[in-house]
Amino acid sequence: NIKGIIFDLDGVICSTDEYHYQAWKSIADDEGIYFDRKINERLRGVSRAESLEIILERAAAVYSPEEKAALMEKKNNIYRELLKNMGPGDVTEEVRSTLRELKERGYGLAIGSSSKNTRFILERTALTDAFDGISDGNMISRSKPDPEVFIKAAGILGLKNEECFVIEDAISGINAANAAGFHSVGIGPAAECDEAEFKISFFSEILDI
Ligand code: BG6
Ligand code: MG
Repeated sequence: NIKGIIFDLDGVICSTDEYHYQAWKSIADDEGIYFDRKINERLRGVSRAESLEIILERAAAVYSPEEKAALMEKKNNIYRELLKNMGPGDVTEEVRSTLRELKERGYGLAIGSSSKNTRFILERTALTDAFDGISDGNMISRSKPDPEVFIKAAGILGLKNEECFVIEDAISGINAANAAGFHSVGIGPAAECDEAEFKISFFSEILDI
């Protein structure tokens, strides 16, 4: 008996996953570290700090904690510059009307994102009011595949984990959902993985599960 739906943000609600890639690519290029879209798939859903560690696996040099902090700040500044170009038009009509319809059907709707930029993105795209709760990267100490961010989201909705769908584009997010008894729904890259309980090829298909 599903009562709530928890949505990942980057790559599910909007295409900010592409901006994350561009920002990290520019950092990797500056540092002379090989980075491509295949490696980028491993960054989906994981925190900024863990994303950097994955990129640095291919670095020749060893980076100090201070140097890592500087790279993360530089990446976030590039990313935020890209986000400034975003507006309401960057969320599709399909996403907006599906969220409206789900709300009309009485589901509790929440965001469950590892990103510390979640609220900024929701404001820029005029989506803050579409959700009953927001659980984001500022509220957690462990990022996906740990289920903390989804457990917090279900708590905000006042629902049990097993009463919620989790919609994810990241395999790390699907694993996080499964680890804590949520019903996982894969979209995009996560629709290719065996771990997803349900698979959808476009957003409005949520209405038919
Ligand atoms: C997730 C993205 O939503 O947020 C990851 O899928 C990203 O790629 C993570 O690293 C953290 O984002 P931010 O905005 O806090 O750097
Ligand atoms: Mg995502």
